[in-house]
Amino acid sequence: MNLPFAESFKIKMVEPIRRSTREEREKWMKDANYNLFKLNSDYVFIDLLTDSGTGAMSDKQWSEMMLGDESYAGARSYHNMKNAIKNILDFDYFLPTHQGRAAENVLFSVLVKEGDIIPGNSHFDTTKGHIEFRKAIALDVTVDEAKDTQSEAPFKGNHDLKKLENAMAEHADKVPFLLVTVTNNTAGGQPVSMECIKGVRAIADKYNKPVVFDSARFAENAYFIKTREKGYENKTVKEIVKEMFSHADAMTMSSKKDAIVNMGGFVATKHKDIFEKASVYNIMFEGYITYGGMSGRDMNALAVGLDEGTEFDFLETRIKQVEYLGKKLDEYGIPYQRPSGGHAIFVDAKKVLDKIPREEFPAQTLGVELYLEAGVRGVEIGAILADRDPVTRENRFPDLELLRLAIPRRTYTNNHMDVVAAALKNVYDRRDTITKGFKIVKEQPIMRHFTVDLERIK
Ligand code: F0G
Repeated sequence: MNLPFAESFKIKMVEPIRRSTREEREKWMKDANYNLFKLNSDYVFIDLLTDSGTGAMSDKQWSEMMLGDESYAGARSYHNMKNAIKNILDFDYFLPTHQGRAAENVLFSVLVKEGDIIPGNSHFDTTKGHIEFRKAIALDVTVDEAKDTQSEAPFKGNHDLKKLENAMAEHADKVPFLLVTVTNNTAGGQPVSMECIKGVRAIADKYNKPVVFDSARFAENAYFIKTREKGYENKTVKEIVKEMFSHADAMTMSSKKDAIVNMGGFVATKHKDIFEKASVYNIMFEGYITYGGMSGRDMNALAVGLDEGTEFDFLETRIKQVEYLGKKLDEYGIPYQRPSGGHAIFVDAKKVLDKIPREEFPAQTLGVELYLEAGVRGVEIGAILADRDPVTRENRFPDLELLRLAIPRRTYTNNHMDVVAAALKNVYDRRDTITKGFKIVKEQPIMRHFTVDLERIK
């Protein structure tokens, strides 16, 4: 008999979580104005709001925490992080920041100015926020396949190189750099192929522009290249990672994802001039260049996390858990962005709650229903997140309306995934009775989804 697959870790420390009653959840959800971000975590049984900073560190990472050097300047921990970034990613220069969006703030302070256009494959919301805040434009050139949740294309995170080439032909003088987001979070944790990365590089070279990677889930991306792209099956994840970044001029990193730490990030670059300019902003916004927004212990843990996060066994365990949840949803006939992504399952809320108009936020409605059903918290990746057009102030309705169930690294077991799938099935079975969504009663002018207040439509 073939042995079944099992996790490549055992568990040494646990944290209790608690179930609640439907009645309790109804009250808590109402008190939170139907915004899942506003729920206390104690009110959540299985928390799939995000895979960011929510993973479990290894014994080796925890032991490195004790060895942190907290010197203000030139700490050993800084050099540990510098060596890991050089050895694993092959960037000579880097600046620690407190998280990914801080890295965007520091780097974009150097590279982005009013009127610029930054083409990329589905800019993440903070990336778009930092671009639009500077009165520049985030131009999406993702492949159209990403809009069809039922297409099984292996690299739905890709840039459409024709769209990119057209954008460059028209706007090159306004483009400070080309952006590659790996994996493509907004399109469903979908990977970008090496072929596409090379294509973006070629277009950048033609127009003499740098390429910047938003690298939050670069290791998951490398795993997909290894397992899906011809010619890479015999390369190690670490070799693929090096090849991916050989096409980058700079990167921003949210270390809370693939470097498996609870807090941290960095900017890395191959260019001394970018580094020197960015250093000034880092000192202003984050901290001195050898700690940025991070403590020494966190830089130590990050250095180990980069190494562990690019090991095949770790990635296989992680991505197979996401796939496990996807297969359960297949059993129940629940539509999601196919094939299952690197860090999350993205349920197709438009298809599940097809009686709810876009204006009433079907993905948010599904998220609230799932929470009420079983205390499972996901997050809306739809019209609330897409926000208003900065110029017209009209609501933007993206092609996809998704409920993201993001799975923290090394945190939950497949029993938890069974509960999530069963809860979703219960909601799915009564989907025809869910006919009304929500309206916004209060929102902020940018990145409204974090703080928005909603009311049920009666
Ligand atoms: N880029 C991508 C692709 C991201 O997914 C995130 C964060 C960031 C940048 C910003 O990093 O949070 O460290 O400031 N994504 C989280 C999520 C929040 O839930 O997907 P950060």
